[in-house]
Formats: sequence, C-alpha cells, structure tokens
Amino acid sequence: MSPPVAVDIDALYARLDALIAIAPLPPDGACRLALTEADRAGRDLFCGWAEAAGLEIAVDAIGNIFATLAGADPALAPVMSGSHLDTVATGGRFDGALGVLAALGTLEAVRAAGLTPPRGLVAAAFTNEEGARFAPDMMGSLVFAGDLPLAEARATRGVDGALLGAELDRIGYAGPLAPGAIRPHAFVELHVEQGPVLDAEGIAIGIVEGVQGISWQEFTFAGEANHAGATPMAMRHDAGYAAAAVATALRALTRRIPGLLATAGRIVLEPNLINVIAHTATLTVDLRHPDEAALREAEAALAEAVAAAARDAGVTHAARVLARFAPVTFAPMVREAVAGAAAAHGLTARPIVSGAGHDAQIMARIAPSGMIFAPSIGGISHNPAEATRREDIAAAVAVLADVLTTLCRKDTP
Ligand code: GLV
Ligand code: MN
Ligand code: MN
Repeated sequence: MSPPVAVDIDALYARLDALIAIAPLPPDGACRLALTEADRAGRDLFCGWAEAAGLEIAVDAIGNIFATLAGADPALAPVMSGSHLDTVATGGRFDGALGVLAALGTLEAVRAAGLTPPRGLVAAAFTNEEGARFAPDMMGSLVFAGDLPLAEARATRGVDGALLGAELDRIGYAGPLAPGAIRPHAFVELHVEQGPVLDAEGIAIGIVEGVQGISWQEFTFAGEANHAGATPMAMRHDAGYAAAAVATALRALTRRIPGLLATAGRIVLEPNLINVIAHTATLTVDLRHPDEAALREAEAALAEAVAAAARDAGVTHAARVLARFAPVTFAPMVREAVAGAAAAHGLTARPIVSGAGHDAQIMARIAPSGMIFAPSIGGISHNPAEATRREDIAAAVAVLADVLTTLCRKDTP
C-alpha cells in the first residue's frame, strides 16, 4: 500500500453542512434538483473549495466539473473519483455529496502530505445523476462516456417543462471542455449504501461488485373526461383506472420474478378532480434486477399488463423509455484495492451489489471502475432522514484515500 494520507473529516462535515444550508429539508436533508439555483450554489461552493485547494478546475459542455491535482508524470492517465451534487427533491445529506467531497478531501490530503504521485488525481462532480428533474439519470457521466449525444441531452425537457440546455446555460455551467476529454486510468466512487444490508449486518465497508440493471418507462393512458355520477361504469374510458391497474400489477410481477424491484413512483391524473373521470393518466415505472434476462422478462410482462389495463379501461396507451441500463460488474482491480484497504484498516467488509444507480456504472464503460459503500442507518435514502454514523463515514473515506493513492502508482495494471 502507498503511504496513508489523512482526510480532514471535520472539514468534510463542514462542507456537507454548507451544501445542506443552500436548500435544507428537515431533519437533515436537502433539495438541490439538477440545474436549479440550489444546484448552481452547490457547484459554486465545490469550485470555490477546489480553487482554494490550488486544484485546476475544468467544466465540460454538459456541466461535469473536474478538479485536478497534477501527477509527476503528465503522460500517465489520472485516477478519477467523485459522484454528484444534485439531489432528488427529497434528498439526504450524503447521497452524492459524500463521494464528491471525499474525493476533494483526498486530493487536499495528498497535497498536504507533500506527495506527488506518478498519476494525477481528479475529483469529479457529475451533472444530473439523479434524473429526478431530467431523465435519464446518470446523464452527465453518460454524455462524458460518449453514450448520449450532447445535443440530445440539452434537448431534454424536465418534469417541470424546463429545457435542460437552457437551464445549464442559465446557471453558467456549460463549460468549454469536450465531454470525455479526460480518460481516467481508473474511476472510484464512494457512496452510502442507501439500502439496509451493511447496517443490519454491522459491517463497515461494502466492496461493491456491480450495479443492478435499471429500466425506467413512462406510460400515458388517454381516455375521456366525463361525469363521475352520470356515466355508467360500462361506458367509461377511465385513464386513472388503467394507471391504477398497472401500479397494482407491479406487485404481482415482483412475486412472479424473484429479485425484481418495481415502483410506480409518479402518477399524474388529468384533470385530477373528485367528480371527473380522468381523461389522461401518466405513470412512471422503475424496474430493477441484477440479471439482464430477468429484467427483460419483467419489461415484457409489464408491456402485457399495460395493454391489458388499457383494454379493460377502454383507453389508448403509449410508452416512452426514460432510462435503460444493463447490470454492470465492476473491475477486479478496484474491488481488490477496496478489499485490501479495508483489511489494512482492520475494518469489516463484504461484497455487495448496488441497488441504486451510480455514475461509476457509466464510467465503467470507459475505465476500470468500482465503488465503496458506507452503511446507511436503517437503509433510509432519497429521504431527508438519510443518515450514516460519523465513524462509518470516516472509515469509508480513509478506505477511499488509500484506494486512490494505491491506484495512483505508476505500476498499477
Ligand atoms: C439514482 O439515485 C437511482 O438509483 O435512482
Ligand atoms: Mn447518488
Ligand atoms: Mn440518489
């Protein structure tokens, strides 16, 4: 292992506090939806901290921010670490921000220790990881990896009707760097688990093996508005009934396909009035499974359920894919570095598959990638009550710092 560097955990918490303070949600969360004023304020804080640390800052055309500590040999690809600063509308303290600030703290610690590793180090903050305002999620890393054209990303409409490109320009984060201009030697993301496994088992470190597949679709049912009292049941074209039937069918699907997770997270009825049959219903479905074949089986069954619900309700239906990611397996090089660092710190650790989506699963397309998980108390996330014990944060950050300094050696494969 390389000489350990000590990340300043007090500074990391002060920065988490500053991010929360932009748009706080009790008890300990925040709302920094992508490309809003709050997101801009978070980005400004990160850039200010990185600048004060003497790092070189570059922003690419989709708004990803990179803060670089140069290595001794500029010919060697740098090691990159980071996550995202945006949150869902009901965001927690750590989701995303932890990974960005732990990477920044590591660069500062390396510099403070007077080390200049052969490879440079880059702390990254990716645009719109959450996908809560603009779909798909992991958008910044997708554009960076070359798998989503910039123009297509900029043309995305948000759930609030806003145009992504206009919002990016408005907050001043459409930068000059070409997406993908930095080709990392490796990418490592520290994140809270967001699930209950590590906390329930009393384990400090998750060695993330990969990320399960994600399928996001939006279904729109179109019927006819009519009087709730005067329209016989047999004569209705009730879009709301179709959406409700699909939401219910998801549960049955999860019983049929073991390991499937299915969520109807958003249902919007129009006109959304007590005594009017809904003429339109929009429903989002989030399906997840670690096995691609099982995820496809679930998508096929869902398509049947949607068609059956539309028939039964006497309405038409249309489907739109919002995001689709196959399951990802992380690089042995990173997994071994995480396991080695956890062992060197005397920490309990176990392999784990991520239930949530992450920028690392996209970066895995262009560089050996991996993740470190810290336990989430009670497995609560996407909730302002999201929490992780401070000693678990400190341990996971120490593991990240060791992994990054190890991977920064010239001779890592
Ligand atoms: C991103 O946080 C996701 O997994 O939905
Ligand atoms: Mn996240
Ligand atoms: Mn999230």
